[in-house]
Parts: sequence; structure tokens; C-alpha cells
Amino acid sequence: MLSEVLLVSAPGKVILHGEHAVVHGKVALAVALNLRTFLQLKPHSNGKVGLHLPNIGVKRVWDVARLQLLDTSFLGQGDVTAPTPEQVEKLKEVACFPEDCAVTERLAVLAFLYLYLSICRRQRALPSLDIAVWSELPTGAGLGSSAAYSVCLAAALLTACEEIPNPLKDGDDISRWTEQDLELINKWAFQGERVIHGNPSGVDNAVSTWGGALRYQQGKFLPLKRPPALQILLTNTKVPRSTKALVAGVRTRLIKFPEIVAPVLTSIDAISLECERVLGEMAAAPAPEQYLVLEELIDMNQHHLNALGVGHASLDQLCQVTMAHGLHSKLTGAGGGGCGITLLKPGFDCCCLWPCPRLQCGFSTCPHPESTS
Ligand code: MEV
Repeated sequence: MLSEVLLVSAPGKVILHGEHAVVHGKVALAVALNLRTFLQLKPHSNGKVGLHLPNIGVKRVWDVARLQLLDTSFLGQGDVTAPTPEQVEKLKEVACFPEDCAVTERLAVLAFLYLYLSICRRQRALPSLDIAVWSELPTGAGLGSSAAYSVCLAAALLTACEEIPNPLKDGDDISRWTEQDLELINKWAFQGERVIHGNPSGVDNAVSTWGGALRYQQGKFLPLKRPPALQILLTNTKVPRSTKALVAGVRTRLIKFPEIVAPVLTSIDAISLECERVLGEMAAAPAPEQYLVLEELIDMNQHHLNALGVGHASLDQLCQVTMAHGLHSKLTGAGGGGCGITLLKPGFDCCCLWPCPRLQCGFSTCPHPESTS
């Protein structure tokens, strides 16, 4: 068992194209954000395991001895297997949630208990430790906050239980796990995501585990070769929504209207592939016409996502405001509110946008005086 304090971090993500379609086996293009989630794990010997999530006001402590007495055989043999609804129901009993417990808290605690009990039960005794997780990412906004949380938990617990080595050597301030260790981290993080979202595609945890820009399809990904430096404005509509409910809604629509919805998903797939092709071309031989193609792809995909039923009036407003300035926007992530992305042309000053979308997102400092107040 690890004896020193461990600090882990993982990034959030933006999906350029392919959200929702990726759940049905189509291609998604996603990039890691420079907004991260951080986890500190402190091993100790007080017989307790603590979880502190200051962003969502969670502070929970369990007696290791009590957890040790639980019959955790319901979790399987410690292999990386998908959590079943029965297992999640049993975990709810372990968690003992108060009646008025918020959904975000419930899901975060359940994912933690699932990963802690599944990963650490291979040890002779469950470890006593304190975990604190905090984030620069807004929750439930489509930026992969739950995936970054699951990746941090998986990486820290696997390291604490010596399933993977601590990559920090003497004198290192920062380090990264090997490809093989990242594979294992990603597998466990995917299970954490399943506890939270039910039936995710795995794209969010893959980007959060490996970083960079990648093309993802059915559990396999390829890093995008030499992605061009695009300027993308991120706007948080601050309209809350549930990824699980939105993904379920698309599935229901697909079952109800297969002849209508399946071609929409196929078309989104083609948009992702065309975008990948244009990005490759831009890296090799940049030309202004490529921006026009990217803009058309954004518009078509946004209409498709509306047809899937995952749009929102706040996202329509974003599209209208940015369009008035000749810019093209689409939702990113699950939609239904959350965040939108706007492609900025080279040299475009986003302070020309009024009302400034950054006023709402607060992600980075905008030189516009009114927007930083
Ligand atoms: C969420 O970031 C992206 C969705 O496609 C869901 C998923 O891929 O699991 C909506």
C-alpha cells in the first residue's frame, strides 16, 4: 500500500462532432481542455475512508471495518466488469443517502464506492485513506467533469493499491503513467462513468485519460495527427441537464422512428469524418475555404442534434447571437443546455460579441472590461 500523499489530475474535454451518435457506434472527434480535475489521496491509519468533494459540498466518511464486514462478493472478482443495476442498488444501501441528497452527490458517492470497493478489495484489508477531489470544470455542462472525476479516482486507487506503479521518481514534480497503465486506468474510469451515466460511449474517459485530440469509435481511438490550432469559444449556458436522460431520450427516439433517426446518426458520422479530413488538410496546407467547410459542418450537425431532441432554447440563442457576427456554433457534449462551441475565424476578436458569451462562462479572462466585472 502506498505510504506517501498522491496528487493526480485529469482534463475535461470538448466534443467537436459526434456526440450522441458515438453512443450508437459512430465516430466522435474530441479534444482535451486545459481545465482539469485534481485529486489528493492521503493514506493514513485511522481506520476511516473519507471522500471530500468541495465543488459539490460533499464530505463523507466510512468506517473501514464496517466496509470490510460487508459482503462485497456482489462486486465480482475484482475484474473490470460493467456495474449491474443490482450492484448499484446494493451500493446505495452502503452509501446510506439521506432523503434530500442531491443527484450529483449520490452519483459521485456511488462511483467512488464502486471504484474503491472493486479496486481495493483485492488487498488483504481495505485501505484507510482520505480522498479530496476538486475541479476547474463545471459539473453537468458537457465538458466531461464526471469522466475526469472517474479517471482521477481510478488512477489514484490503482496506484494506492499498487495495481499500477507510482510513476513519480525521486525529484520528479510531475509524471505520466505508461500506455499499459493508462489502459487499465481508462477501463476502470469507464466503469465509474457507467455508474454515473448508465450507458456512456467511453469517449469522455478516453480523452480524459490520454489527453490531446482524438477520433473515437466503439472503444477504439486514434490520436488526430497534427491537429491545426483552431480558436474555439466555449459558452456555458448554465442550463442544467442530465446526460443520462438525454442519451436515453435519443435511444427512445431511435426505437420509435428508426427509419428517420438512424440516417441522422449516419449523417453525423459522415460529418465527423469530413471534419477529420478537413483538419488533416488544414494542418498540411491551410486555406481560407477550409473554415467555410468547418462552419457548414457545425451548422448541419447542430440541426441534426436538434432533430435528435437534444437542443435547447439557450443553445439556439447562442447560435443566433454568434451568427449575427458571422460565426457558427453548436452544442457540445450531451446538449439540453450545458455548453456550446463557436468556431472563431483567425484574428477574430471575441469581444465584438455582445452580449459577451464569456460573461456567462467565466472560463478565462476576457479583455472586454464589462465582461470581467
Ligand atoms: C457526452 O459527453 C457525450 C455523449 O455522446 C454521451 C457519451 O458519449 O457517452 C452525449
